[in-house]
Amino acid sequence: MRTSQPQTIYLSDYKVPAYLVDTVELTFELFEDGARVHSTLELRRNPESADVSAPLELDGDSLKLESVALDGAKLAASDYEDRGDQLVIRSVPDQFRLTVVTWIEPQNNTRLEGLYKSSGMFCTQCEAEGFRCITFFPDRPDVMARFRTRIEANKEAYPILLSNGNDVEKGELENGRHFVTWEDPFPKPCYLFALVAGDLVEKRDSFTTCSGRDIDLRMYVEPRNAEKCDHAMDSLKRSMRWDEEVYGREYDLDIFMIVAVDDFNMGAMENKGLNIFNSSCVLASQETATDLAFQRIEAIVAHEYFHNWSGNRVTCRDWFQLSLKEGFTVFRDAQFSADMGSPTVKRIEDVTLLRTAQFAEDSGPMAHPVRPASYMEITNFYTLTIYEKGEEVVRMIHTLLGPDMFRKGSDLYFERHDGQAVTTDDFVRAMEDASGRDLSQFRLWYEQAGTPVLTVSDEFDAGQGVYRLTIEQSIPDTPGQTNKKPQHIPFALGLLGQDGQPLALQLEADASESPIERVLELTDASHTFEFHGLDAKPVPSLLRHFSAPVRVRYPWTREQLLFLMSHDPDGFNRWDAGQRLAVDVIQSLVGAADDAEVEPRLIEAYRSLVSDTDLDQALVAKMLQLPSEAYLIELAENADVPAIHQAREAVLKCLAHALRDELLACYQRNLETGAYEVTPEAIARRSLRNTALAWLLMINDEKGRTMAVSQMNDADNMTDRMGALRALVNSDYEDDRRQALDEFYNSFRDDPQVVEQWFSVQAASDRAGQLPDIRKLLEHPAFDWKNPNKIRSVVGAFAGQNLAAFHNPDGSGYDFLADQVCRLDDSNPQIAARLVTPLTRWQKFAPAYSGQMKSALERIRDKEGLSRDVYEVVHKSLA
Ligand code: PHE
Ligand code: ZN
Repeated sequence: MRTSQPQTIYLSDYKVPAYLVDTVELTFELFEDGARVHSTLELRRNPESADVSAPLELDGDSLKLESVALDGAKLAASDYEDRGDQLVIRSVPDQFRLTVVTWIEPQNNTRLEGLYKSSGMFCTQCEAEGFRCITFFPDRPDVMARFRTRIEANKEAYPILLSNGNDVEKGELENGRHFVTWEDPFPKPCYLFALVAGDLVEKRDSFTTCSGRDIDLRMYVEPRNAEKCDHAMDSLKRSMRWDEEVYGREYDLDIFMIVAVDDFNMGAMENKGLNIFNSSCVLASQETATDLAFQRIEAIVAHEYFHNWSGNRVTCRDWFQLSLKEGFTVFRDAQFSADMGSPTVKRIEDVTLLRTAQFAEDSGPMAHPVRPASYMEITNFYTLTIYEKGEEVVRMIHTLLGPDMFRKGSDLYFERHDGQAVTTDDFVRAMEDASGRDLSQFRLWYEQAGTPVLTVSDEFDAGQGVYRLTIEQSIPDTPGQTNKKPQHIPFALGLLGQDGQPLALQLEADASESPIERVLELTDASHTFEFHGLDAKPVPSLLRHFSAPVRVRYPWTREQLLFLMSHDPDGFNRWDAGQRLAVDVIQSLVGAADDAEVEPRLIEAYRSLVSDTDLDQALVAKMLQLPSEAYLIELAENADVPAIHQAREAVLKCLAHALRDELLACYQRNLETGAYEVTPEAIARRSLRNTALAWLLMINDEKGRTMAVSQMNDADNMTDRMGALRALVNSDYEDDRRQALDEFYNSFRDDPQVVEQWFSVQAASDRAGQLPDIRKLLEHPAFDWKNPNKIRSVVGAFAGQNLAAFHNPDGSGYDFLADQVCRLDDSNPQIAARLVTPLTRWQKFAPAYSGQMKSALERIRDKEGLSRDVYEVVHKSLA
């Protein structure tokens, strides 16, 4: 608990560690009323440190210190100082052995950092600064040590004892206890340490690496989840193969383990050789997991596995470099997912998240660069900017260098820095050195926050047959940063002729080469490009594949958008044109009369989409999704959420009425025949028929209702069951909704992952998730204030997805959220700080809303004993 005002930590204050740790020997004695941790460190002064007489300072948090010994001699209390958050020893030799014994209480650890208990098992979470909750240690990623870990526990309750590396010894102890010792041959920072003890079933498989080594693959889960491991195991094997083939990276230990735990703050964690997953991000079966969950699991399993190289073998020097491992690893997992499924659809999904949530973050009070310059609490910096914008930055390097040079750069990076803790600058330098390209201006992407705005204008000179395209860039101010310099932006584009064919792009400079797509490089505040040899004004297809994380402003006409929607050879830009058109139509209806006309050309465009069986069905399924409310809010100034909600729903209903016959046909056409499969084609079919169903229920279609009820009962998979449930929940058929929800709950009440989905489908619905309903969900026996997934599926889904209900003009949604944040601040500050996010965007909304949002924030600010996590978020958003 905080006693003084939280301190800001600056990148510019970085100093190398004064002491290095060569080896760590840990012994955990695990009991029901606590755990005793014996830690023996081999320490020495760092020859690179300028501070030759620095005292030894070890980090600690919530530890009960039992004893300290130096080179075997017990220290008297006057020889050291226990400051609570630090153990300080003033005089130590240049090289010595330190033994520290601490007592901790995992059973009372609700923050879920360090060692804690989840459903009867012990587990750890050490990133970013959780290891200091286990024992005193230099808890910073540039201190890398070899770990040997002995775990002792009651054998019946905890038959499985796991840590990093290889198990080297095991045996029986007195009183029904046993032990296992693990040794990790790779030096690692303490944030990659992990321990698990529990009564778990083991699922085994194996993988033969490219050099012929056999790796033992093991998954550990609670017995009731034994049948939900296949998909993760399969994803793991595909990830291992892919990383060999695409990046030349082979796995390095003999064992690779995955553990599923129910209580987890984040998605998963890449601990060396022992990845720990939030159950919802790893367990799946056809009956219990949706297609979305299957895809998410595949991506997260790959992400954590890929960290073994991008994160573990080469790690971060300090937490300001977090995007070094996260941006690169998200890029790698996105490439992997693209290879496993539909690349266009994967790109659409990633860009949707980026433009909706990361752009919002980047224009709000918490905006920060991909490499932040300061922070108060590092767990607040596991953000969309570090992960998703960080990915885009790596992707742009890939675009600028091309795949071959990028691979050379990545090989050089891994070779040069294997076993080191490095910076984003080291990454960029490896890319430069391998390719010979100068990325000095490009580095601004790491330093400057804010989403660049590209303003594009064009003119056609009929006399000369020249099309002139002018692109101006500007970067908005963000907290602490003004007057930004132009960045180096790869801008992919194509030009289309009147009949839709791609035109040769003949730039003045090199008429010899005229491809139909180019990546222009923007480096100045303004550029004008001239395209020659054209006989009419072309339609530009701008920023193809979303080649940079920027906003593009161009005065598109609805004709142009319709044209691109049906002709652009770039699937991503086809989708994007459809989104822009739909945004334009919805925006024009915000605040309009109830019977205002919906653009007939939009209806006709959707009619051809719903009936199109030639185009890639996965793309069609995506193109049918209207832009989300959250995205429309992000694009708005002084957003009036209920008005936006109403306009969007009016368009949806209008489309559903106009296209009723086509929707029914689409539903029938896409009915499953044959066995359930998780292929892009099958996923697209399910997505199309469930979209058709949802739209039909929006207009209270009786036929749709019958179809939904039978689909809900007969489905052989969760995607269809959930599709039908969601459609019913969002319909006006109140009795069916109630009945469907009850039946669903009764069938799946024993499965936490399904109950979470059941909570969120209600909490995210404006029909079933008004505030009184939400309060009832919080009283439901399956709700649990200690379980982050449950909190996210009710409180998070309400504030993040049920936007019209959350932004109730009476302010009740804001008050509710403030109450829950205050309540969670004591038990789990990390989760509390994340839940505040929707309130931090108060400046985005119309005055009637923003004033009340601000008051809710002020109420949180004034809570007594506010955690550092929530303090930072609330103070920055009120600044
Ligand atoms: N490093 C994890 C990942 O992205 C995320 C994480 C961060 C998990 C902090 C737990 C705590 O793979
Ligand atoms: Zn990661």
